[in-house]
Amino acid sequence: MTIALPKGRIAEDVLAIFKKIFNEDFEFESRKLILKKAGFTFLNVRNWDVATYVEKQAADIGVVGYDVITELRSDVLELMDLGLGKCRVSVGGIKGDDSYKNKSEIVVASKLANIAKDYFSKQGIPAEVIKLNGSIELAPLVGLSDVIVDIVETGSTLRENGLEEKEVIMHSSARIIANKNSFLTRKKEILSLIEKIKEVNGA
Ligand code: PRP
Repeated sequence: MTIALPKGRIAEDVLAIFKKIFNEDFEFESRKLILKKAGFTFLNVRNWDVATYVEKQAADIGVVGYDVITELRSDVLELMDLGLGKCRVSVGGIKGDDSYKNKSEIVVASKLANIAKDYFSKQGIPAEVIKLNGSIELAPLVGLSDVIVDIVETGSTLRENGLEEKEVIMHSSARIIANKNSFLTRKKEILSLIEKIKEVNGA
């Protein structure tokens, strides 16, 4: 079975779960992108690419943030909430300044452009969404946008830049997702792994 993991902290946390299950060391060697152990093949993938690997069946299952699968509208099965990487997707803006609420059209900067568009359109608020790739908090500080829609975890990036969380759009955490075909052909294997993960993850 092939498992796509997002690089970074969540990858480490997930490999630690496998370490607990199999009582063996699970770790990617320094620059290696593939790790084979105990009958599993782990892929070290960029966060935003995990759902693509799973959707196209280059991996059978994967671990990815709920925010990412929502934004990408990925055609995958969501099997389990790992409870890791908890964060919110929120509207943020200049502290103490709510003037965006009175505008006829709000300019929003975001990496999560679909989530941002859906959120404002559902409320009937006209919004122009400017898609950025990172350092989103900069946009309202230099007048590129009125507000941002971004991930908030501790809130320190907002605070340190004179911004504040205005509205919470959704809560997110890491999910185990599966390719739809793989789930049919390897159902037993996948479900037994999920059971083992639940046991050690205290879910
Ligand atoms: C994310 C997010 C915020 C920050 C939130 O950025 O876009 O900037 O983390 O975390 P906090 O609430 O704990 O401060 P990331 O570090 O992924 O980098 P990016 O700016 O390249 O998106």
